[in-house]
Amino acid sequence: METLKQYLNHFYERNQDHLQRWYPGISLHRLQSELAQYFIFDLQQAFIPGADPRLAHFFAGLEKGIPLEYMAEEAFFYNFSLRVDRRVLIPRKETELLVEGALASLHQLARQGETSLQVVDLGTGSGAIALALAINYQETVPLTITAVDLSAQALTLARQNASRLRYALSPHCTLRWHCGDCLEWDFSQAQKFNLIVSNPPYIRESEKETIHPQVLRYEPPLALFLKDEEYEEWYRRFFTQIQTHLTDCGEAWIEGSENHLAGLAVLAGKLGLQTKLKRDYTDRERFLIMKVPGPFR
Ligand SMILES: C[S@@+](CC[C@H](N)C(=O)[O-])C[C@H]1O[C@@H](n2cnc3c(N)ncnc32)[C@H](O)[C@@H]1O
Repeated sequence: METLKQYLNHFYERNQDHLQRWYPGISLHRLQSELAQYFIFDLQQAFIPGADPRLAHFFAGLEKGIPLEYMAEEAFFYNFSLRVDRRVLIPRKETELLVEGALASLHQLARQGETSLQVVDLGTGSGAIALALAINYQETVPLTITAVDLSAQALTLARQNASRLRYALSPHCTLRWHCGDCLEWDFSQAQKFNLIVSNPPYIRESEKETIHPQVLRYEPPLALFLKDEEYEEWYRRFFTQIQTHLTDCGEAWIEGSENHLAGLAVLAGKLGLQTKLKRDYTDRERFLIMKVPGPFR
């Protein structure tokens, strides 16, 4: 009788082309470790077809090209793991760079004598950025993070993630959740924020053909796309809100597309924001840092 490991090896050989198309760069070793670690299977156990519905689900999922994170309902981000499913975008590695920069900014603000700090995460999805900040905040200055999303379903999952991670969160941090539109800013009439973080939708619909089919088929369109004809106006409203709600010493860290970020920086500049672009690990301009005018630190 075949072991699970042997069955997986044969599955991999038989389906190599399909697997490479749907999971670019995937190796047999990665699949083995996914099964062993995420799904907690002993690879030396006998493989009896149909005996374990979770295994059937795993192999059927691979045949459909479902992202491994959605199958496992878990994704690793920064220094913790999150529950994910099709309600939310799978957090990406490059977003960890945004967290790193935003955390440094937050710690510096805390040491500048503020008595409390206000942060907002616009388009929180799984809660990845808000929770990374809440977990890794090292200061004692009271911090409130408001996490906002237009999708009520995403926000439900983000709140569940916060609950799962409650013992890892800084005791000096309070999390607030708000279902709403980051262009309307109805969650705070007049409040200013020391730090605004966001990984908003930033792909133009006309760019869909450049997007991997796995993303197109399985990840939520609301998280990804903006209509071409609305793109500039969307960001004009977005930046206007940021400009209105950022404190004098505050910073905004926004993730974006390398195709559009330089143009968006010009737009933000016209609205009175001071801008700086930051590159990702692959040397592409992927982050826009903004503040109200004054010298950058
Ligand atoms: C690219 S995802 C980012 C998710 C998460 N912050 C991350 O980095 O993994 C964008 C998120 O913005 C939300 N969103 C889209 N339009 C929005 C709007 N107008 N107001 C608030 N949230 C919005 C989507 O539902 C989605 O969760």
